[in-house]
Amino acid sequence: MAIISPITRTLRDGTRLVVRSADEADAPGLIALNERMTRTSPHMLRDLEEQDRDPAEFCRVMLAHNVHPGKAFLVAVVGAGGECAGRLAVRCGQWRRLAHRAEFGISVDQPWRGRGVGSALISTMLDWAAAHPTIEKVCLSCFATNVGARRLYERLGFIEEAVFPKHIRQGPGQYVDDVQMAIWVKAGIAPEGHTTWTVAPSASDGPM
Ligand SMILES: CC(C)(COP(=O)(O)OP(=O)(O)OC[C@H]1O[C@@H](n2cnc3c(N)ncnc32)[C@H](O)[C@@H]1OP(=O)(O)O)[C@@H](O)C(=O)NCCC(=O)NCCS
Repeated sequence: MAIISPITRTLRDGTRLVVRSADEADAPGLIALNERMTRTSPHMLRDLEEQDRDPAEFCRVMLAHNVHPGKAFLVAVVGAGGECAGRLAVRCGQWRRLAHRAEFGISVDQPWRGRGVGSALISTMLDWAAAHPTIEKVCLSCFATNVGARRLYERLGFIEEAVFPKHIRQGPGQYVDDVQMAIWVKAGIAPEGHTTWTVAPSASDGPM
């Protein structure tokens, strides 16, 4: 089961952040986060009406990650009330020939951006992927216009592998290129020019 036990991280501003697998109680906060992201970020794939907004259905999809060995759904929570600052969902390929490959999506709530929450979520996920029995490579897709996100991924070691021109259609005549990036998580197999993720000796409580 892909349940990630709580890991505490201290952000640079001293805020204590817990990264862990999502549970049922997180669902309302996550649905609200998805809605805010869709309304405010130009870099989201799905429209508001395409989001899972029914709490029961959202919970079903979210909790399925916790019982699937190749999936994980992480939340970054702060404070006694467990405010959800961000989320990350990752899944490895369904077929044997794709089981070495995982892909993820991430969102951090606007007030929490630029404070290390995204780095904490991604590094926790990469530590998990590095220990996973089949995952060797972690991939992502990013709007080419999402310059801040691309810089963060590069800083963490992701390498740009391909650009698909006009892959996203935002409206009539409005297209955005899609950038594919990847990082390797098992030693000795990354192609030349690619990076391999190194698990920190003690993942918990390192400043982000
Ligand atoms: C992309 C996204 C997930 C990044 O999350 P984040 O929490 O802002 O990421 P971090 O704070 O870890 O890192 C972002 C930057 O802030 C810097 N940073 C980290 N901690 C910091 C701190 N305490 N104070 C100031 N800056 C900090 C990082 O060095 C990084 O700088 P860089 O842009 O020069 O690389 C977030 O901006 C987001 O959700 N955006 C909207 C949705 C989206 O684009 N999703 C990704 C689709 S591919």
